[in-house]
Amino acid sequence: MPTKILVIGACGQIGTELTMRLRQIYGGNHVIASDIRDGNEEIMASGPFETLDAMNKSQIEDICLHYEIDEVYLMAAMLSATGEKFPKKAWSLNMDSLMHVLDIAKEGKINKIFWPSSIAVFGPTTPKDDTPQHTIMEPTTVYGISKQTGERWCEYYHQKYGVDVRSIRYPGLISWKTLPGGGTTDYAVDIFHKAIEDNAYNCFLSEDTALPMMYMEDAVRATTEIMRAPAREIKQRSSYNLSGMSFTPKEITAEIQKHLPDFTISYEPDFRQKIADSWPSSIDDSHAREDWSWKNEYEIGNMVSEMLSHLK
Ligand SMILES: NC(=O)c1ccc[n+]([C@@H]2O[C@H](COP(=O)([O-])OP(=O)(O)OC[C@H]3O[C@@H](n4cnc5c(N)ncnc54)[C@H](O)[C@@H]3O)[C@@H](O)[C@H]2O)c1
Repeated sequence: MPTKILVIGACGQIGTELTMRLRQIYGGNHVIASDIRDGNEEIMASGPFETLDAMNKSQIEDICLHYEIDEVYLMAAMLSATGEKFPKKAWSLNMDSLMHVLDIAKEGKINKIFWPSSIAVFGPTTPKDDTPQHTIMEPTTVYGISKQTGERWCEYYHQKYGVDVRSIRYPGLISWKTLPGGGTTDYAVDIFHKAIEDNAYNCFLSEDTALPMMYMEDAVRATTEIMRAPAREIKQRSSYNLSGMSFTPKEITAEIQKHLPDFTISYEPDFRQKIADSWPSSIDDSHAREDWSWKNEYEIGNMVSEMLSHLK
């Protein structure tokens, strides 16, 4: 029997590209996209789509039963910057949706879950450079608190009920196909659009704010690889540190200027600076490398070239 997959939050920045990749791997009809809003044409035309509220457990259950779903990828969430504006809403969406999917797996109605965590699980007391897999975690954003709590629940459901849930702490994700959804690392996508449209960008973080980032190609491949790895290789049932590259606004500007020499940047840090300051600058992902052979393909140089060539 072919694997049948449900992607919840399929129309967001990651969900869009992940759904298309899963449809390439498993076949369009075996990957059900779902979201509370419609997606782009490609998503809507390349396989089944269901309007679904991730807060509604019986709706998720009905779709899982109807399509005989094996695996759920839960991508719906409220991200860091938006979460600070609506803390209670962020908490409800991020926690309720995860608990629903974990319970559906516990009840034996699905076999496997992918749920993304984030570098936001770390906080100002975490070692900033090469942040280890196991370290101090005192997140200060509601988004980070929801992701850390989510990690604890994932591990608990795995240990206690044998739920096969797998997770990655994504860094900031950079993509040209879809726009970011209200996070603190969004500048690293916005900068390319503005560079091409206006040759200038006003950055909401200061020039020397180093943050871990990853090109979407790598993030999607990491997601499909961790889900296809044999269960015995997945030793972290909270979530895996994952690293691609790390750079500051000043460094990415210099890289863009190699292609667009007249591009200029100005800096006007806002509330997101404080969030960025509480996060790691770089991540040690040796556990992912050892356990399920993770390896990034993109560094800042090939990422910037690809972003500019696609967006132009
Ligand atoms: N983008 C990043 O840089 C990044 C970094 C770390 C972790 N993550 C995590 O990856 C996941 C996906 O992030 P993203 O960047 O694609 O987010 P996004 O905001 O772009 O997409 C989220 C999607 O969820 C949908 N959604 C919201 N509420 C819903 C509900 N009640 N029911 C169903 N769908 C709903 C939205 O319509 C949207 O399409 C999230 O869990 C996020 O925390 C993202």
